[in-house]
Amino acid sequence: MTAPKKLVLLGSTGSIGTQTLDIVRRLAPRFEIAGLAANRNASLLASQAKLFQVPCVSIGSETGKEELAAALKETGHKAEILCGVEGMCHLASLAEAEMVVVAVAGAIGIAPTLAAIEQGKQIGLASKEVLVAAGAITMPLVRSKKCSILPIDSEHSAIFQCLQGAPDKSIERILLTASGGPFRTLPAHELKCVTPQQALRHPTWNMGGLVTINSATLMNKALEVIEACWLFDVPENQVEVVVHPQSIVHSMVRFHDGSTLAQMGLPDMRLPIQYALVWPDRVNTDLPRMEVSAYANLTFEAPDEEKFPALRMARQALGEGGVAAAVMNGANETAVEMFLKERITFSGMGEMVDRALQKHERKEVTLQNVLEADAWARNYVRETCLSVNTP
Ligand SMILES: NC(=O)c1ccc[n+]([C@@H]2O[C@H](COP(=O)([O-])OP(=O)(O)OC[C@H]3O[C@@H](n4cnc5c(N)ncnc54)[C@H](OP(=O)(O)O)[C@@H]3O)[C@@H](O)[C@H]2O)c1
Repeated sequence: MTAPKKLVLLGSTGSIGTQTLDIVRRLAPRFEIAGLAANRNASLLASQAKLFQVPCVSIGSETGKEELAAALKETGHKAEILCGVEGMCHLASLAEAEMVVVAVAGAIGIAPTLAAIEQGKQIGLASKEVLVAAGAITMPLVRSKKCSILPIDSEHSAIFQCLQGAPDKSIERILLTASGGPFRTLPAHELKCVTPQQALRHPTWNMGGLVTINSATLMNKALEVIEACWLFDVPENQVEVVVHPQSIVHSMVRFHDGSTLAQMGLPDMRLPIQYALVWPDRVNTDLPRMEVSAYANLTFEAPDEEKFPALRMARQALGEGGVAAAVMNGANETAVEMFLKERITFSGMGEMVDRALQKHERKEVTLQNVLEADAWARNYVRETCLSVNTP
């Protein structure tokens, strides 16, 4: 029997993190967990550490360490406790770790991802922000260290699966599918009246709040266009967004010979997570199967880019280069926060991101510049929203 593959999982308590552990449990004893990291959820982190016998864990801040120590004590499991971004970088660089799964939310995942690549680890990448904000430094490092990034985002996993065995430079077009969100058919003028409760109801995927709102504005797809350009080394005009409300075809690739390959499956993140963990293998699991006959109508249509300006903004940010995409992402996350607090309207989110993109200082991509641009954009949107909303 081959030795278990040793994983480090950053963001273990989140939606992707818990589903990753579900796959690890289903595929036991194929994997061993060398380290786990989370931000604040000490009790769940401690119980995961106990369940998977993890020797080293990291929590968001110094103040969380005590709570984590107490939670671990309650489980009876002993583990080394680290904290902050340094803690995650340490885990990402552990000599015994073969693969690092990055599933933290936000730009905080960039430094640990770079640390893991520096050490030549295989990366399972869920955190969009890493390539959106820092693709220009991440991908050259991946190439120089000859390590692989296995995408976990379902669309990028689909593209990656379609590309298995394909010759280099044979992509003519990437067709990135989007559900279109809950307001696909709503007249544009009614968008500003959409409430957070309405926007939080996604028609096909069950995800966290930020990703659900981003799906409703198509910002999620906008971020994915940027992610796809970096991952598959194609210019933005080779990535086309196709609205596919059933979320069964997870994306497609059209090749130079005119053939188009699609990857299909139920909307269940455990499939792309599992594929990334075991690539290039395919394992026999009992995850739910898709019955093709249950989907008599698979439809595809072009997105309305006037109604949903996020796609235009992503192409603008890619064209501009530098820290523009980091600004777009940071501004959007705060705009979503402000929308959920009912400080701005649904349409106001796009307006805020547009304003931040116009106002930001243009800089080349370095880790420091990206983190500063992200912080600037968040602050800019917060202050702009507050000044608009206070008499
Ligand atoms: N959910 C999906 O279906 C999906 C699909 C594709 C891609 N993604 C991408 O995957 C990433 C994670 O998404 P998610 O939905 O799993 O998010 P989530 O449910 O909000 O979970 C985020 C995870 O990151 C941890 N975290 C946040 N800030 C941290 C910090 N400063 N230090 C250490 N850990 C930190 C959280 O810990 P606490 O729990 O302790 O706060 C949690 O474990 C995002 O980039 C998202 O765009 C998600």
